[in-house]
Amino acid sequence: MAQAGRICALALEAVRGIIAPGISTKDIERFAHDLIREKGGRSAFLGYRGYPASICASVNDQVVHGIPSERKLREGDIISVDLGVDYDGFYGDAARTFAVGRISEDAQKLMRVTEESLELGIGKAVAGGRLSDISHAIQSHVETSGLSVVRSFVGHGIGRSLHEEPQVPNFGPPGKGPRLLRGMALAIEPMVNAGTWKVRVLEDGWTAVTEDGSLSAHYEHTVIVDEGRPVVLTRLS
Ligand code: MF3
Ligand code: CO
Repeated sequence: MAQAGRICALALEAVRGIIAPGISTKDIERFAHDLIREKGGRSAFLGYRGYPASICASVNDQVVHGIPSERKLREGDIISVDLGVDYDGFYGDAARTFAVGRISEDAQKLMRVTEESLELGIGKAVAGGRLSDISHAIQSHVETSGLSVVRSFVGHGIGRSLHEEPQVPNFGPPGKGPRLLRGMALAIEPMVNAGTWKVRVLEDGWTAVTEDGSLSAHYEHTVIVDEGRPVVLTRLS
């Protein structure tokens, strides 16, 4: 899982370097696909429940599961890139939102708060706590900041499969759900909207967009619960 996570991190860091006005989301797809292969991994998304690409590329009001296309990025866009890696039967999953050139202050705030909420959630991935402590930390920070948390997609356990028990919602009261134990592996992934939390899925059967057209951001890490500081497998350090 450490290897799988490291490949996720390397791929996202490399993707950061090519994000610019004029490139298409399919360009990002090809780039990430090749990089994952070069590092000895396999995309965990390609073919997953029929998903047709190696990454998800979700632009502006697209929340998650944007399918790479000929759509070209424009100055001022934000794009969430989500990718999963299977390394020798072990999985990693990570996502990050990138700015395309100069973006609005609202978009900057959305990205910052979403990333902060992920870090606060990770901070609760500590043995002895409860699963929903993670959920609550995320929701509190997001809503205090005047933004909203998507309800219909959640984080998840991860390990020998991309998606395992338990679900990890980004909302809820603290102190509920299973007790966290050392060694549990969780993909924590807040999806945060500038407007309503409600989303709908486009006719392609995958792309989730905000119901009101507002911007959305998505950050995700694969995390191992430990006694002290959680271990973040999808961070380069
Ligand atoms: N990170 C997303 C998730 O864990 C990935 C979607 S899987 C897809 O749900 F392959 F179906 F896109
Ligand atoms: Co995930």
